[in-house]
Amino acid sequence: MPNVVAHEVDELICTAMNLDPTESYIVRFTPHASKETAHHMMLYGCRAPASSNPSWVCNKAETPAAPMQNAVCSDGPRQIIFAWALDAPEKALPEGVGLRVSGDTGINYLVVQLHYAKAFPPGVTDNSGYTVELTRTRPAQQVGYLVLGNWGVIPPHTPEFFLDSFCEFPLNYTIYPIAYRTHSHNLGVVTSGYRIREGQWMEIGRNSPQLPQAFYNVSNPGMDIRPGDVLASRCVMNSVSRDMDTKLGPTNHDEMCNFYIMYSTNEQGHMENTMCFQSSNPDAQLDDFPPDAGSLDGLPGAEAAKEKFNSVLQMK
Ligand code: CU
Ligand code: CU
Repeated sequence: MPNVVAHEVDELICTAMNLDPTESYIVRFTPHASKETAHHMMLYGCRAPASSNPSWVCNKAETPAAPMQNAVCSDGPRQIIFAWALDAPEKALPEGVGLRVSGDTGINYLVVQLHYAKAFPPGVTDNSGYTVELTRTRPAQQVGYLVLGNWGVIPPHTPEFFLDSFCEFPLNYTIYPIAYRTHSHNLGVVTSGYRIREGQWMEIGRNSPQLPQAFYNVSNPGMDIRPGDVLASRCVMNSVSRDMDTKLGPTNHDEMCNFYIMYSTNEQGHMENTMCFQSSNPDAQLDDFPPDAGSLDGLPGAEAAKEKFNSVLQMK
């Protein structure tokens, strides 16, 4: 961040870096940020950044109607590269795995999007960011992302509203989940993701989005997902504090229900973020989620999440 000043709490500020045009692979992410300053810090890939300024406010998702205004990327969607929160350590990808950028990937820029935790006192500036380690040697496996989520609305005054998403695994090659991330705004209590194979549910990850929204190791390391499998996610939302419908959308007044899977694969084609999204009011339902799908039990930090959730509701 080029001496950035956060003028208000929850400001989202971006800065972009042009990559060398030669095809390369990211093998390590080293964050430089502290939880005192940064609530969370994303790294996105763009064909072009939404602004040519050294830094800019970037609190909007790209939409066809408003492709540039306060967005992260212009000329195409943002591609998720990495996420950091709460003093999480650096992450080295497994041996033989890299995330392809430059060349003809459509990722010409890396953009850091930082969610500032508070407004800065006079004279204070910020230089948070990432160091990424790249190699020119193509590794055996590359990294991709698959995201489950929902659109629609959450009705008010509901202590446990389920947002379920499921789809047949949409890729025609096998993937190996490395890590997962849950993302919601203020109403998300717990989010879980599963692979279903021949009727058997296997947990990919389960966490509270009120805990730091970093990438965590998957629940079952070494698991694979292959054509024929079904993927499912559930977000439990608590809307007791709301008097009206809460829309699922990009701003902080909206809610989100996202379950990200970071995976490795032997597939050599370009990775684009694969989406598995469903309405909050699905025509079809999966009724056989495991009993703990909506539970914080057994999660490290669950008590803190519950407390934080309660205080989020009380602050309302
Ligand atoms: Cu944040
Ligand atoms: Cu969001």
